[in-house]
Parts: sequence; structure tokens; C-alpha cells
Amino acid sequence: MTILDGKALSNKIKEEVKADVVKLQKEKGVTPGLAVVLVGSDPASAAYVNMKSKACKEAGIYSIVHEMPDTISQDKILEILAMMNKNPNIDGILVQLPLPKHVDTTAILEAIAPKKDVDGFHAYNTGRMNLGLDSFIPATPYGVMELLKEYNIDPQGKDVCVVGASNIVGKPMSTLLLNANATVTTCHIYTKNLKEHTLKADIICVGVGKVNLITEDMVKDGAIVVDIGINRLDNGKLVGDVDYEKVAPKCSYITPVPGGVGPMTIAMLLKNTIKAAKLREESKLND
Ligand code: GUN
Repeated sequence: MTILDGKALSNKIKEEVKADVVKLQKEKGVTPGLAVVLVGSDPASAAYVNMKSKACKEAGIYSIVHEMPDTISQDKILEILAMMNKNPNIDGILVQLPLPKHVDTTAILEAIAPKKDVDGFHAYNTGRMNLGLDSFIPATPYGVMELLKEYNIDPQGKDVCVVGASNIVGKPMSTLLLNANATVTTCHIYTKNLKEHTLKADIICVGVGKVNLITEDMVKDGAIVVDIGINRLDNGKLVGDVDYEKVAPKCSYITPVPGGVGPMTIAMLLKNTIKAAKLREESKLND
């Protein structure tokens, strides 16, 4: 059994991003900039936003966090996004999800300029990704694909079971694997018999936020297991959606939690921000 070490790969990618930032500054006079919008006071969201802005600083990316109370109106958020869309020093815009109930998430995500949509959640980028065209790719599934690539795991022709069908993780994960020529089954809360699907899979990717959802009897010998879940236990310990201790011995490869997909998500966000900064530079040339 080999551990898919997301921490190590993310460090490598962060170093590449750092070098890219220096190059962009030296050759083009551009410092990549990321704006993060945080609405409300959910501690998990605040923690993610902190990690993202810390990673930006370490990579030399300029980052600002717009914190707003959860009573803020949708119109006010839209107004702030319109300003960021026009701000030439901001290459990437990210609205941390989930948003408060009175805010229409789709309306907010669609208000981000597609060329600054570093989360890849805008319908423009989602659609282009579906078509296999160049686009911003959501950081978490993008990180999973890079992790598989690093270990020379080619999804082509493999039976893959994606557990979870969220717009942020499950759906784009399934799309990317399909684009990589895997045979993809997407399972979700209405799936009648989850085990029937996971047992057949050469690769299982699970990200639903349920402790011990995937147990050893649900995984075939030699399977590759990618755990995208993050759950905090009452004792403070972080675990994924897979019963790691029992499942790992059956696997050919498995991601740990923490240290698997989590660090990759941050690294891919930085990579997307560099991509956005390069788009800024190109659009300057086209003006
Ligand atoms: N909430 C949970 N994951 C994500 C993510 O990748 N991006 C944003 N913006 N919000 C999230």
C-alpha cells in the first residue's frame, strides 16, 4: 500500500508557484492578486480563508480578505464583486461557501467575472470544463487529478466510483475523471446500494463529510482510495470519510487525512491564481 502524499506534492507545487510569481514580477511587472470574500462567522469557513490567505502570502501572491457580517444584503455583496471585477490588481476572486440562506449562491457565483473565477464555479467555467476546454478547474478535484498523475495513476479505462455529487467536489470530480476516459459512477444520498457500486471500483473518490462512510467491506482488494472528506471528531482529531485504519491495508494507494487532498486544494487555488494573472497579462497585450 502506497500513501498518496498530498502534503509533499502540494509543497512542490507551492515552490513552482513561488517561482512563477517571481517570473511574472520580473518579466511583466505583475504581482498576482487574490480577493477572498468571507460572509458571516462560520469558524470552519474562517479557518479555510485564513489558510488560503496565508498560502498566498507565502507564495508572494497579494491577497485581501473582505469580511462581511452574515446580515449583509445580496445587493451589497454584488456591489463589492462588481468593484473587484473592475480592480486591475485583483486577478482572482473567491467567495467562500456556504453563504447565508438569504443569499442566492448561484447569483453571487455568476457575478464573478469568468476570467477571475479561480474557484471555477461560474457556469462559464463549469461548461467549458464539461466540454474539455481550457477553463478554471475547481481546486479540490483538480488537486485529486494532479495527485493521481504524480503517482502515474491513469484513470483511463478504470471503473471509478465518485461518492458525493456537490457542485464543488463530486460533480466536477466526475467530470474530470470522465474527461480522462474513466468509466464513472456518481453516487449520492439517493443511491440505493452504495456498497454495490464502491465494491466494483478500481478507484473510489469520496467527499461527503461523513465519518467512516467507507468501510473495509466496501472496497475491493487493490483499489485506489481518495478521501476528500474532512470531519472533526469531538476529540479535535481530523478524519476523512474512510475508515482509514481498516481500509488502508486493502488498498494499492490511499490518501491520508490530513495530508492528502486538503493541502492539494490550497496549492491548486494558488495555481489558478497564477493562471488568472497570466490572463490579465494577455488581455493587456490584446488591448
Ligand atoms: N467551501 C468549501 N470548499 C470550498 C471551495 O473550494 N471554495 C469555496 N469558495 N468555498 C468552499
